Amino acid sequence: MLTLGIETSCDETSVAVIDDKFQIRSNVIISQIDIHQAFGGVVPEIAARNHIENILPVLDEALKKANLTLSQIDQVAATTQPGLPGAVMVGRVFGRSLANALDVPFVAINHLHGHMSSLRLSNPDLQPPMLCLLVSGGHTILYRVNENWETQMLCTTADDAVGEAFDKVARVLGLAYPGGPKISEHADMNLSFKPILNQFPKNTFSYSGLKTAVLNYINREKQKGNPIKLPEICANFQYCAVLQLLIRTREYLQNTGIKTLGICGGVSANRYLREQFQKLCDELGVKLYLPKPELCGDNAAMIASAAVLGIK
Ligand code: KG4
Ligand code: ZN
Repeated sequence: MLTLGIETSCDETSVAVIDDKFQIRSNVIISQIDIHQAFGGVVPEIAARNHIENILPVLDEALKKANLTLSQIDQVAATTQPGLPGAVMVGRVFGRSLANALDVPFVAINHLHGHMSSLRLSNPDLQPPMLCLLVSGGHTILYRVNENWETQMLCTTADDAVGEAFDKVARVLGLAYPGGPKISEHADMNLSFKPILNQFPKNTFSYSGLKTAVLNYINREKQKGNPIKLPEICANFQYCAVLQLLIRTREYLQNTGIKTLGICGGVSANRYLREQFQKLCDELGVKLYLPKPELCGDNAAMIASAAVLGIK
């Protein structure tokens, strides 16, 4: 049983083939980051046009790498929501047409369920019930996932998503899009961490206050004529951004008594986040699951695996 996955919801065009044992036969990703960097962020119309250009060559390469032909595909899965409307439509229409032409089922996948499935794809022993923290450029959500991979949202952000805050702070600091990895690199250079920011929301995730606190700090330092110390600001922002994820997740782990935690989405690639959550889970006797680094960002293998899992 072979599933072909398609992902075009933001700035990655990706096609993958996986089997029903979650073995990845191929997972081809073309990123448009270079194109959007000139604008400091993803331009929706440009993203959609590039998906149209890329989708057929990416499909051909995915089949070639997997050493398969289209006639061997048993079902087609594509992200149908959420995402940039024009971008998501390319993969959705392409996938549905392909499934029709091959006379195989089409499975509509929620992109967020795709990220969750990257946990199963990376960890064969993962078995819900679990809490799942999804941290990406568009979302910051804590889910409860039951034995059948049915999901229930427990907590979300009141304003910006955590990845969005990384990207916006990076932009103000003159770092290239996407800012998350750059902030992380500069933060890692700060070896003597001293807290200078203080922004901790209660009962929810919230990132616009933290973003404003960073901007105000930068402006104050500039007015005083002080140099902007990238490692210091990045480490402080990252510390506050991760701390509220830790505080909230700790509460939910303790209140529910659930002993398995999964963290997924682009921001789950963050080294400091991984390290801090490992410490939290060790302390609470919770087993922590993370996607392989190459499966944290947007990719089609996770979309195909959501179809195999039947996540709802
Ligand atoms: O899941 P993803 O690829 O796309 C969405 O569905 O949004 O997540 C992209 C986000 C971006 O905001 C990017 O800056 C962030 O993930 N990101 C990181 C790191 N790598 C990617 N944020 C912090 N640290 C990282 N190492
Ligand atoms: Zn994503």
